[in-house]
Amino acid sequence: MKQDKKPVPTIYEQAPEIKPGQSIELLKELHILTRDGKLNQDSRRKLKQVYHLVQFIEPLLKDVEAQKDGQGATVVDHGAGKSYLGFILYDLFFKGRENGGRIYGIETREELVQKSTALAAHLGFPGMSFLNLSVAESTGSDKLPATIDVVTALHACNTATDDAIDFALKKQAKHIVLVPCCQAEVATVLRKNKGRDLGRSALTEIWRHPIHTREFGSQITNVLRCLQLEAHGYQVTVTELVGWEHSMKNELIVATYKNLPRRRPAERLQQVLAEVGLEELSSRFYSGQPASQAQAAESTTD
Ligand SMILES: C[S@@+](CC[C@H](N)C(=O)[O-])C[C@H]1O[C@@H](n2cnc3c(N)ncnc32)[C@H](O)[C@@H]1O
Repeated sequence: MKQDKKPVPTIYEQAPEIKPGQSIELLKELHILTRDGKLNQDSRRKLKQVYHLVQFIEPLLKDVEAQKDGQGATVVDHGAGKSYLGFILYDLFFKGRENGGRIYGIETREELVQKSTALAAHLGFPGMSFLNLSVAESTGSDKLPATIDVVTALHACNTATDDAIDFALKKQAKHIVLVPCCQAEVATVLRKNKGRDLGRSALTEIWRHPIHTREFGSQITNVLRCLQLEAHGYQVTVTELVGWEHSMKNELIVATYKNLPRRRPAERLQQVLAEVGLEELSSRFYSGQPASQAQAAESTTD
């Protein structure tokens, strides 16, 4: 007697994490799916993490579209790396919308920029561009528009997150999404000034021991970043990027421009810088006008 053949499961049945319409080719190219269309434990986790972030960003993109009467959002992703986030966001949100939306990836590693450019062309994702620039260089680059709607920076190394904030402020970003990486600059200044500051207040005990200098340096950096954003009229929320198990650094900072009063956070920012002996970093964590505009204004009034 002839046995009924079991139907071959579709890729969506094998891997229910894959969303309808999502590019299987993209997931294979990003090595999230194996060549024979399987998801292993590691890639399942990676996909879950990126979806988690996309979930935060999608409502921000819809908000931008509503503000721009349906016109697409511009996004700049700083320290893009292999651009997992950019590609998956494009595939799930931008693809097929054809409303002028665009994602730019900024990355200093040329080979990653070339690979991502080739992949976007291969997949037919015309609204994606990749620029081989540092975050700081990209701020003045004529390859980017004068304003950008959404700025993201995920684990952008050291001060690249600070440069991304500076970029976002100068480009009048409506939304900013940051998952900071370790930042060495603040801890270096705390360390340098320790001898001077230790007798000043009992609270300097918080960063007296070397490990505490590093940890406190990292924490106060994010506090200063949040105050800097608030001092520019943004509403800031800080949460944990759950599901980002592979990284110790999972603080998610989301800032939305609301034109909120700036005076109080600007004062707080200056006070915190003074109290922890970080006054020399006031041009990094600036309030009011972005530093370069303030300098330009000063030089014209000289
Ligand atoms: C830890 S990876 C994160 C990649 C990606 N954002 C992600 O979360 O998967 C950091 C990336 O930022 C890039 N990078 C570091 N400093 C940078 C800078 N100042 N400007 C632009 N890219 C930078 C590195 O080359 C690297 O690819």
